[in-house]
Amino acid sequence: MKQRCFCDCSLSEKLLYTAFLLLMGTGYLMALVYLYTSHEERDGKPGLSVEDIAETYYGNRSGTRLEAAIRGSMAGYIQKIDDRYQIVAWLKGGASEKGYTTRIRPILEKTCLQCHSPVSGLKIPDLSSYEGVRAVADVDTGESLHTLMKLSHIHLFGIGLVALGIGSIFRLAILAGWLKATLILLPFVAIFADILAWFLTKWDPVYAYTVLVAGAVLGLGWAGQILISLYQLWFLRAPEETDRLS
Ligand code: HEC
Repeated sequence: MKQRCFCDCSLSEKLLYTAFLLLMGTGYLMALVYLYTSHEERDGKPGLSVEDIAETYYGNRSGTRLEAAIRGSMAGYIQKIDDRYQIVAWLKGGASEKGYTTRIRPILEKTCLQCHSPVSGLKIPDLSSYEGVRAVADVDTGESLHTLMKLSHIHLFGIGLVALGIGSIFRLAILAGWLKATLILLPFVAIFADILAWFLTKWDPVYAYTVLVAGAVLGLGWAGQILISLYQLWFLRAPEETDRLS
């Protein structure tokens, strides 16, 4: 059976495909601009960088006042390396109340609380209660898992359908089989990798690179499909002719 191609499409079919592809292309560009403007300033430097992405999902977990204090001005009161390590690990893990009560408070009790509790009368952070510690331990852990789950299911459904729409038009293109199959598969792989990388970045910021690469691959995949489809829709002549050309 002869494979159907763009040259078999009626005018209204061509118009439908063209309008859809242009709309989706514009949508993708809008999404890029939106992403750029909403994340660019996260790390305080202009331009969207891997650090911006890492901060979005992983947060900025160093630089709490508590960590700075135990490494700096208060270091003399906390000699045991393991105690310091415990506090830093607790901060990076999100500084939970449970962790405070079970692991951190006993450490602080040893030396810190003689000054850092209301009874001392000093006007310094109160470390004897979880609320007091929060004030100097405000850790930015990025988007919450809950938000990521909400965003990822919306993305998976939404982008999946767009990929299906663009892909099912592009399947009419006349192209080497392997290239066509790769281009069709690419956006799906990229979406999957991208969403997976959000969660991995939450765990380790190094995966911010995957987010960036997956985003670029998705863009390239779609750009390829859209441009080839548009070109073949309007400029490709009868298949016999192209067979000879290719
Ligand atoms: C002898 C009293 C004393 C002890 C013990 C002490 N601190 Fe302090 N701490 C202070 C004073 C005074 C300040 C305020 C002046 C300053 O920042 O140096 C302060 C400030 C701080 C701050 C606030 C720093 C900021 O960014 O403003 C933190 C956090 C802190 N201490 C943590 C600790 C921890 C943790 C311990 C125990 C390992 C500890 N301190 C032990 C007296 C003490």
